[in-house]
Amino acid sequence: MAATILVTGGAGYVGSHTVIELLNSGYEVVVVDNLVNACQGKDGQPEALKRVEKITGKKVKFYNVDLLKLDELDKVFSAHPISLVMHFAALKAVGESVSLPLAYYKNNVSGSIILLEVMKSHGVKKLVYSSSATVYGTPQSLPLTEDHPTGQGCTNPYGKSKYFVEEILKDLVISDKEWSVVSLRYFNPVGAHKSGHIGEDPSGIPNNLMPYISQVAVGRRPSLSVYGSDYETPDGTGVRDYIHIEDLALGHIAAAKLLLSSLSGQFKVYNLGTGRGNSVLEVIKAFEEASGRKIPYTICPRRPGDIAASYADASLANKELGWTAAKTLHDMCADTWRWQSQNPHGFSSSEH
Ligand code: UD1
Repeated sequence: MAATILVTGGAGYVGSHTVIELLNSGYEVVVVDNLVNACQGKDGQPEALKRVEKITGKKVKFYNVDLLKLDELDKVFSAHPISLVMHFAALKAVGESVSLPLAYYKNNVSGSIILLEVMKSHGVKKLVYSSSATVYGTPQSLPLTEDHPTGQGCTNPYGKSKYFVEEILKDLVISDKEWSVVSLRYFNPVGAHKSGHIGEDPSGIPNNLMPYISQVAVGRRPSLSVYGSDYETPDGTGVRDYIHIEDLALGHIAAAKLLLSSLSGQFKVYNLGTGRGNSVLEVIKAFEEASGRKIPYTICPRRPGDIAASYADASLANKELGWTAAKTLHDMCADTWRWQSQNPHGFSSSEH
């Protein structure tokens, strides 16, 4: 029988794309999400998961449960033969985390601890953790390898919460060799499912570059602010390692296969990136080419907390997971545009 995988935050951007790949790989999927960042249909089901079911022709079991509610989470584990957990559920807005540190630590750190306690009491000791390249802080050298120091120079509670949970997971595996954990450090996930039916749907004003550009392209916002043109990069704008969300999702499938087949008693970390950096101006140009739309922009001062450049050495994931990012910046822009142009207001039918 196919293994059952529990996905926390499965109605979110990275979670929902990963659920598609899990279903396509033959796994049974149970989603737990409190819908704090997801659009809910009239029947209480998240819109993203309804579309995931349409895309795959398969069913997803969904529970509207907050990880902080231990008893409710416990019932979900009692109801399903779970082999492995993928843990995406977290708050992720950097600026908001500075003004609401307790909310961030409670959701991201306490929520993770409660999840681990419930997993332990049900004897489920395999986890894929959704981490971030933000744990590296300001890069001391590029490309970033997994052995680059972490936790130093994490300037905001969001980033620190990702680092803290990694440290907790390390200690857990040291304490009990039945645990095995893969922490995936994402670079900059962008793009959408090739169908155009699901994609990133930030509430309010987007913080991140790609959703902002796509909202300008579709006419929801007049112009983009480019934060800084005086960085030590080839064209002066910030350089990042953008990775297509479908490639990122497939990285999780590779990690799950490793955990379910061979890995035990280990805490492993892998970068998920392309290994290439692109500047803000390069992304704007690629998006204009993919969409046929002009993206008006103005050069603005640097955004506090931003770094000049960040990109991955993704060779360890290639060597040990057999995974590599296949899609290009053009694919990322074309798929973002397909999603945004077919769904100008995201999952809801009007502005939210
Ligand atoms: C940001 C977060 C990071 C988080 C990641 C999640 C900050 C400081 N960092 O990373 O912790 O893990 O999102 O995906 O928020 N840019 C513009 N105009 C915009 C938006 C962005 O010029 O309107 C520039 C930025 O200055 C940067 C690049 O675009 O050079 C990418 O920005 P963004 O998409 O926000 O990602 P990160 O800053 O890398």
